Amino acid sequence: MSSPTFYVTTPIYYVNDKPHIGHAYTTILADVLARYHRLLGVPTHFLTGTDEHGQKVQRAAHLNGITPQEQCDQTVVRFQQLWQRLEITHDDFIRTTEVRHKTIVQKSLQDLYERGEIYAAEYAGWYCVPCERFFLEKDLAAGQCPDCQRGVERLAEKSYFFRMSAYQSWLVNYIETHPAFIQPEHRRQETLGFLRQPLTDLCISRPKSRLNWGIELPFDRDYVTYVWFDALVNYISAVGYGADAAQFARWWPATVHLIGKDILTTHTVYWPTMLKALGVEMPTTVFAHGWWLVGRDKMSKSVGNVVDPMDMVTAYGVDAFRYFLLAEMSLGQDASFTEDAFVTRYNADLANDLGNLASRIIKMIRRNQDGRMPAPSEPGPEEHELVELTLGAVGHMQGRVQALQLDRGLAEIMAAVRAGNRYFDRLKPWSLAKAGDTAALARVLYHAAECLRIVSGLLLPVMPAKMTELRRALGLVEDAATPALAGLSRWGGLRAGADVADLEALFPRIETKPAAPPTAAPPTAAPPTSLPPTSAGAPEGIAWIGIDDVNRVHLRVAKILSAERIAGADRLLKLSLEVGPETRQIVAGIARFYDPAALLGRAVIVVANLRPAILHGVESQGMLLAAKQGSRLQLLSVDGDIPSGATVG
Ligand code: ME8
Ligand code: MG
Repeated sequence: MSSPTFYVTTPIYYVNDKPHIGHAYTTILADVLARYHRLLGVPTHFLTGTDEHGQKVQRAAHLNGITPQEQCDQTVVRFQQLWQRLEITHDDFIRTTEVRHKTIVQKSLQDLYERGEIYAAEYAGWYCVPCERFFLEKDLAAGQCPDCQRGVERLAEKSYFFRMSAYQSWLVNYIETHPAFIQPEHRRQETLGFLRQPLTDLCISRPKSRLNWGIELPFDRDYVTYVWFDALVNYISAVGYGADAAQFARWWPATVHLIGKDILTTHTVYWPTMLKALGVEMPTTVFAHGWWLVGRDKMSKSVGNVVDPMDMVTAYGVDAFRYFLLAEMSLGQDASFTEDAFVTRYNADLANDLGNLASRIIKMIRRNQDGRMPAPSEPGPEEHELVELTLGAVGHMQGRVQALQLDRGLAEIMAAVRAGNRYFDRLKPWSLAKAGDTAALARVLYHAAECLRIVSGLLLPVMPAKMTELRRALGLVEDAATPALAGLSRWGGLRAGADVADLEALFPRIETKPAAPPTAAPPTAAPPTSLPPTSAGAPEGIAWIGIDDVNRVHLRVAKILSAERIAGADRLLKLSLEVGPETRQIVAGIARFYDPAALLGRAVIVVANLRPAILHGVESQGMLLAAKQGSRLQLLSVDGDIPSGATVG
C-alpha cells in the first residue's frame, strides 16, 4: 500500500436497517487509515456511502409502509449521523440513488453490452431472496442457499448475463502474481479455492415485474440491474470514472477496499472481472476483516443482541469506543464484543496506563514547574528503555498501518506508555521534588512528557478528541491535532517554557461491581470495594465495608412472570419478572435446580442496579439471589406476602 496517493473505501451499506457495530468497525478502520496517511502527508481520499437499491431495501420499505426512496432517505440519515458522532472524516459519501452514480452504471452497462460482454439468454435456476443471488442446482447445500442456509425459489426467465467465465484463467493468474491483491493471505487462498470450480457467467438483470427498485438496463427497459453490479461501481463512479478523467486519474486505482469477510466473493471475483471487462485497472488491495461476534454469538436482530454503536458512544465516549474496536480485533480474525471486555480494556489501557501517565506528568509539571514545560536535556542511560520503546512504537506504527495490523501497533504504543509509568515509578519525581533536586526533577518530567507527546501523536488518528485535548495540555498548541509523523520520530520536540494546562481526567475509571457470575450465586463475604478496613479487628481475610457500600446494591422483591430454557445453554433460564411497575428480563444459572413451570408466581430477591449484560445472546437486567452449598441451590425469598418492588436491606 505504498503509493503517492491513498484512496480507501468501505463497503456501501444497505439502508434496510440502521447501522450496528460491524458497520461502525469498518468505517472507523478506514477513518484511522485515512487519518494516518494525512499525518504522513500523503494525499488521501476516503469514500463511504450507502447501497440503496435492491430487494432488501424494497422489502424493508414495504414492511415499514413507505416508498423505497423514503426508506433510503430516512435510513441514510442514521448512517450520516453516526459517522458524524464517531468523528469519521470521509471525503465523500456516495448514495447509489444519486444521478452521478446511476449515469455511470448505465454507461458501463451499455458499453459492456455493445462489446458483447453482456448478452441475453434463458435462465433457469434457484434464487435466494435474502442474498439476492442465483444458484445452480449443483451449488445448493441440501436444497438450501449455500451462503445463508435459507430456502431458495425456482425461477426460469430471460435474463442478461455478464461473461464472467471468460476471465477465470486471467483472474487466477492475476491473484497468483499479485500477492497483495487479496489480504489477509487466508482470504486470498479462499478466493483461489473458489476459483478452482468453473466460473459461470453472472446474471446481472432482474425483471421489473419482480423487482423495480433498481437502475434500469439502458438496452432493455423491462429490467433493472442486479444490485451488486450497481453497488460495486460506486468505487469508480464516485471518483469520476466516465465523467471526470483528471479526478479519476488522481485517485484510481484505489489503494484499499476494506470489506468484511461476508462479501469476499463479490469483491475478489465479480469486481475484478467487471473492471477487466471495462478495461479499468485493478484496485491495489482488497482487505477482508473478520467478524464481530457478541460474546460467542452471531449478532442478529431475532436474537436481539445487536450492538448499537450510538449506545456505546453515549455510555463511554467516542474515543474509547474507537480505541476498543481497533485494539480488540486482530488482523483478519473474528473478535468478540462484550461490555465486560470493553470495560476491562478501557480500565487497563486507557484509565490505568495512559490516563494515569498523563495526569501524573501534568500535575507534577503544574505543581513543581510553575505550569511550564521544563527545558530539554539529552536522554541518558536512565532514559534508555523509555526512548527505545517510544521511538520503536513510531517506527513500528508505519509498518503496522501498511500491513493493517493496527491492533499490534496499538499494543506497541501501550508498551511505550507503560514504559513511561515505569520510568516515573523508578525515578520518583515526587521524591526529587521533596529533596529539592530541581535539575533532576526537570529532567525526569521532561522525558516523561516527551514520551507522552509522541504517544499522543501516534494515538491521534484513533482517539482524535482526547489526544488533541492532551496535546493542548502539553503546550503543543499549533500541531495539537495535526502532528507530522516525521516530528514524532525525533526525541526532544517539546518546547521549553510552553504553558502546561490543567487536564481533567481523560479516561475516568469505570467502576465495576464485584464480578457477579451470571448464576444466582449467593452474595458472599467478598467486599465490594478494595478499600482497607476502616477499623482494626476485622476477622482475617475480611475487609469491613460501610453502610454506604451496602446501600450501593439495590435489592428488590420481584415476582416471576415467566421462565423458559435458553437453547444451547443448559444451565440458564430466561426469566421475566415484575419489579414494582416495571418488567425485567433476567438470565439466571438455575436451570439445573428449578423446573421453569415451578417458578411461576414466586417472589424472589433481585439485584436491581446491576449493569445489564448479554448472556448467551440474551440480555440480562439484574441478578437473582440464592443460597448455595455444594451442589444444592435455593432461591432467596421473603417471609410472607409483600408486593413486588419492595426494597430489601
Ligand atoms: O454487504 N462484523 O452491505 P451491508 C464486522 N451493501 N463487520 C461487519 C459485521 C460484523 N458482524 N456486520 C457487517 C453489503 N459488517 C453491501 C456492500 S459494497 C459495494 C456493497 C460490515 O450493510 C462489514 O464491512 O450488509 C461488511 O462487509 C459490511 O458491514 C456489510 O454491510
Ligand atoms: Mg450484509
